[in-house]
Amino acid sequence: MPVPGPGYSITIRLEAPPSATAAGDIASAVGRVGGVITAFDVVESHADRIVVDVTCNALSANHAKDITDALEALPGVAVRKVSDRTFLVHLGGKLEVSAKVALRNRDDLSRAYTPGVARVCQAIAANPEDARRLTIKRNTVAVVTDGSAVLGLGNLGPAAALPVMEGKAALFKKFAGVDAWPVCLDTQDTEEIIRAVELIAPVYGGINLEDIAAPRCFEIERRLRQKLNIPVFHDDQHGTAIVVVGALRNALRVVGKSIEDCRVVVCGVGAAGSAIIRLLLHKNPADVLAVDVDGIVHNDRPGLDENLGWIAAHTNRDNRSGTLREALVGADVFIGVSAPNLFGAEQVATMAPDPIVFALANPDPEIDPIEAQQHAAVVATGRSDFPNQINNVLAFPGFFRGLLDAHAHSITDAMLLAAANAIADVVDGERLNASFVVPSVFDSAVAPAVAEAVRRAAERDPGA
Ligand SMILES: NC(=O)c1ccc[n+]([C@@H]2O[C@H](COP(=O)([O-])OP(=O)(O)OC[C@H]3O[C@@H](n4cnc5c(N)ncnc54)[C@H](O)[C@@H]3O)[C@@H](O)[C@H]2O)c1
Repeated sequence: MPVPGPGYSITIRLEAPPSATAAGDIASAVGRVGGVITAFDVVESHADRIVVDVTCNALSANHAKDITDALEALPGVAVRKVSDRTFLVHLGGKLEVSAKVALRNRDDLSRAYTPGVARVCQAIAANPEDARRLTIKRNTVAVVTDGSAVLGLGNLGPAAALPVMEGKAALFKKFAGVDAWPVCLDTQDTEEIIRAVELIAPVYGGINLEDIAAPRCFEIERRLRQKLNIPVFHDDQHGTAIVVVGALRNALRVVGKSIEDCRVVVCGVGAAGSAIIRLLLHKNPADVLAVDVDGIVHNDRPGLDENLGWIAAHTNRDNRSGTLREALVGADVFIGVSAPNLFGAEQVATMAPDPIVFALANPDPEIDPIEAQQHAAVVATGRSDFPNQINNVLAFPGFFRGLLDAHAHSITDAMLLAAANAIADVVDGERLNASFVVPSVFDSAVAPAVAEAVRRAAERDPGA
């Protein structure tokens, strides 16, 4: 059952009598309709009344209204204003640009800007690689989207994608000191997106593609990787794959199985599922069955596109056909990046002993994690209100930190695997258990460990 959380938090400013029981009456009224008070601040006090900001977590807009109505119904209470704290956080956006150099006088100006800057321009014209040394290119990443697959919300377009891209940029800065900037393109045409990114590339040390729908995202990434001399990463693909493969390594340690002996079912063969399968295959699992909305992917299935054709050719040893439920029978691992509520505890019971279930569809997983726990040895989801949250924040900030520090020109699978191992290794043997196969996103050891692993992998590959 969903519980009120900080994602829907409101502050209600109200007037109340200055009686000793006012605070208790307010708290009881909120509690009776299921709200959770997180702060109670008296902002004005008079002989005949107090003005209070009551901050509480709610479930939805309707629930917020129920809470407000319950307070207004109290004798002597008048609601003045209701503020949605999530919207308050977004007023005017979440990012700003600030100068790193002092501009106090003509002397400063002459060096940071004209005439001094001209010599720096000439140096870069003579040696373009110097842009990484002498400009923001050294530490700046473009977060590029066309707004076609925003979170789980679908095709909302570029302007509506901007709050997500701003948030991503803020995370880059917070966790790895990377200066990222949102680039929301007003086109969903593959050629126009590729051309636009090519045209803006000189400013950036890396491109992070974000929330671009499959299968278009595969071609955009592939072509940009061919054209650009800076790394191109699609977080919905590779960020997810890194964290899943790292978490799976630890989950297998918990159940004492080796990946070479495991049959893995990956449900969802879109952006996330395809990248997970491609990375997982480097670990030599006994078999992988890929399942999408049309069932198990196999060589004889009609209408396979380029991506699914590759998946069919590299998975499903016995070329099996069938449904997800059939695929699950005897499987050691389930990884879902597909759709909500596809199966229940009875299907987990048909899996091999000590099965691992990663049900990652957001916001509602393929199976209710509480149900999955009835038979699974390890359960992970994409949700922050359950243990083992598979969250891309564990990967992308440190990954780009490593790429930028290594002055990398491209991304290799060795880097992705190194990042996955680094995340897994942050959970040492002392802390590893069924409820802790991935570190917290707030573990300050994660981003430096990932960055170091990626930097070393880049240095081992002179072409990268
Ligand atoms: N860290 C995380 O937890 C994490 C990361 C990435 C994606 N996800 C979640 O995974 C899901 C997929 O993301 P995506 O970007 O790959 O989407 P996508 O649209 O690119 O791919 C979705 C895939 O799911 C399949 N699918 C849809 N309905 C299905 C059904 N009923 N049965 C079997 N397969 C079905 C589709 O055929 C497709 O292959 C989303 O819910 C997303 O939020 C979670």
